[in-house]
Amino acid sequence: MTDIVTGKPDRMVSVRTLFGIDSGLMVPAFSERDDHVPEIDEVYRFNPEVTLAILAGFMRERRVMVQGLHGTGKSTHIEQVAARLNWPCVRVNLDGHISRLDLVGKDAIIVRDDVQITEFQEGIVPWALQRPMALIFDEYDAGRPDVMFVIQRILERDGKFTLLDQNRVIHPHPYFRLFATTNTVGLGNLNGLYHGTQLLNHAQLDRWNVVATLNYLPRAEEAGIVLARVPELADEAGRALIESMISVAELTRKGFATGDLSTLMSPRTVIDWAENCQIFRDPAMAFRLTFVNKCDEAERPIVAEYFQRCFDRELESAAEREMRSTVPQ
Ligand SMILES: Nc1ncnc2c1ncn2[C@@H]1O[C@H](COP(=O)(O)OP(=O)(O)OP(=O)(O)O)[C@@H](O)[C@H]1O
Ligand SMILES: [Mg+2]
Repeated sequence: MTDIVTGKPDRMVSVRTLFGIDSGLMVPAFSERDDHVPEIDEVYRFNPEVTLAILAGFMRERRVMVQGLHGTGKSTHIEQVAARLNWPCVRVNLDGHISRLDLVGKDAIIVRDDVQITEFQEGIVPWALQRPMALIFDEYDAGRPDVMFVIQRILERDGKFTLLDQNRVIHPHPYFRLFATTNTVGLGNLNGLYHGTQLLNHAQLDRWNVVATLNYLPRAEEAGIVLARVPELADEAGRALIESMISVAELTRKGFATGDLSTLMSPRTVIDWAENCQIFRDPAMAFRLTFVNKCDEAERPIVAEYFQRCFDRELESAAEREMRSTVPQ
């Protein structure tokens, strides 16, 4: 393995050939893959606008945030761009469990030459900063205030990072890159879907140079993604099934927008449903197990009606309903 700390991109590659996007751009890339380069997902379908935004991050050192509803492919999009460029990449989920010490580092007791000593162990931020590495802060809007305060420091213009207790200032590697994904635009849980998200400070949001949005895609594109994930459905019956599944998903999204439902189906749920159809061999049963059981009891009849409209059959037979209702409460 090459020494990745001194590594830098050593070739230019064409965006058109690598991502299938109509653009004459050339981007820097690495010839060798190291352990931190994500695996390539061959069937991943790149969204041109989001891909170009992410590429601007890699080429021009822009800090890029990708915002959008859940399960639309935000996290995987950044990883898949990195995978194609052989750019090492780490993803940090800023959910409630990550602490300031995880990011910055802490003193740890280790044994060296049979003697116990205390040594500072770098956290993920100083570690990544010193490498040609794309650092993704996932679920950026779920970060706790103490964690966001640490991140604020690398968002300053020159991105220098001071390890206070170590008396050290870390300068970012010239090929260090920073990305984030978020469900909200920092205004909190306005639609009730994203519990645990925080309000983001606007001075902090302002420091992201590019914000790309990835929400639900046009029908044909969504169908293409499901088909890419579940190639067994590539015949006429399979395509018709995908069309019906997406129709149900669209109804849940409309239902959510008008306030009839408190939840909705993401593209991830549609992919899960298609995969579960292969396991259970029955779209209705797979649907109940993939989505319906996640819905509030009071909303299930509405979802059942959406299914009936798109599939022209009942979601549950009378016998199945009977069996469920005799379960002791
Ligand atoms: N364009 C695509 N091509 C192929 N698969 C995709 C695409 N977009 C999403 N997927 C698949 O959908 C799933 C969800 O993607 P991902 O986890 O990136 O979503 P997300 O937007 O980060 O969701 P969340 O907001 O919940 O974090 C993944 O399994 C991914 O492989
Ligand atoms: Mg994600």
